[in-house]
Amino acid sequence: AASDPDLVERARAAKATLGDRVFILGHHYQRDEVIEFADVTGDSFKLARDAAARPEAEYIVFCGVHFMAESADILTGPAQQVILPDLAAGCSMADMATAEQVAECWDVLTDAGIADVTVPVSYMNSSADIKAFTGKHGGTICTSSNAERALEWAFEQGQKVLFLPDQHLGRNTAVREMGLSLDDCVLYNPHKPNGGLTEQQLRDAKMILWRGHCSVHGRFSLDSVNDVRARIPGVTVLVHPECKHEVVSAADMVGSTEYIIKALDAAEPGSKWAIGTELNLVRRLAKAHPDKEVVFLDRAVCFCSTMNRIDLPHLVWALESLVEGRVPNVITVDPETEKYAKAALDRMLALP
Ligand code: 13P
Ligand code: SF4
Repeated sequence: AASDPDLVERARAAKATLGDRVFILGHHYQRDEVIEFADVTGDSFKLARDAAARPEAEYIVFCGVHFMAESADILTGPAQQVILPDLAAGCSMADMATAEQVAECWDVLTDAGIADVTVPVSYMNSSADIKAFTGKHGGTICTSSNAERALEWAFEQGQKVLFLPDQHLGRNTAVREMGLSLDDCVLYNPHKPNGGLTEQQLRDAKMILWRGHCSVHGRFSLDSVNDVRARIPGVTVLVHPECKHEVVSAADMVGSTEYIIKALDAAEPGSKWAIGTELNLVRRLAKAHPDKEVVFLDRAVCFCSTMNRIDLPHLVWALESLVEGRVPNVITVDPETEKYAKAALDRMLALP
């Protein structure tokens, strides 16, 4: 639907008044009405890198989800404030690993005698606490665009990896990119004593996968892939690595949101694509490539409901508040957490 012209005008006016004092970042899963006002758009890696690109901006308005805003706060200067236009924009996957659960897991690994040889690798989609745990134990953060390099690095440092919190990105990267087998991976269930694993299973494993997942990408199934191939002969199936292993295995191409965008840019006119990622991005790609056939991988509608919480009214409210001298919804990470979380994020940013 078209945006309310009054709100569009108010967003434009507020942004113009604030000028260089505000820097607006937008993740690819954001609504079109929000993306229109972003100074920079990107996947979570690009946004983490770009967050610090405007040190002169007092305010960074992060149109994305909570863990991204936390990371931006960690990576930007103390004089810069990071604003999340709706505080309810969380991530169900990030919520699947709490600091207490992860500390308990580390105790389990310690009791099994393997903590010393295990390197934590945490997906960007995690709270600052989990990133701090990762930094404290010599690990790195990764995103879907550098998970392979992160795992390569981690296996140079130790014999095992504890991968948090997305089991699918961990498994897909280990099996597809690192040549590990499914049997090299075990699933740690934080709701069961000892993760539901024996000490022997933990000692035999190379990848200890946290039992977390993305509810949006988790909805794509092998049936969706088979169904689209039957409907559209010659279709190329391109999915995000947060999809289940069976979906990724059945797909033709796999990559982060930035990778998906580049693949479509490079595609031949007339080519056909079924995309397995969030629907705002897929619809935008379909619109941007009228010379190609671009469809959503599943028949059901599949937005990320928390990404969608950031809408034009929330953005206008945040910008107008700044114009009026109020700084709303500031996301701050405490200095102790920030120190260790930054070590883990810096490690990622330094990956070759
Ligand atoms: P990327 O933007 O890194 O591909 O991640 C997708 C995602 O789920 C962000 O929440
Ligand atoms: Fe979290 Fe999935 Fe939404 Fe990304 S798409 S923010 S992983 S729930």
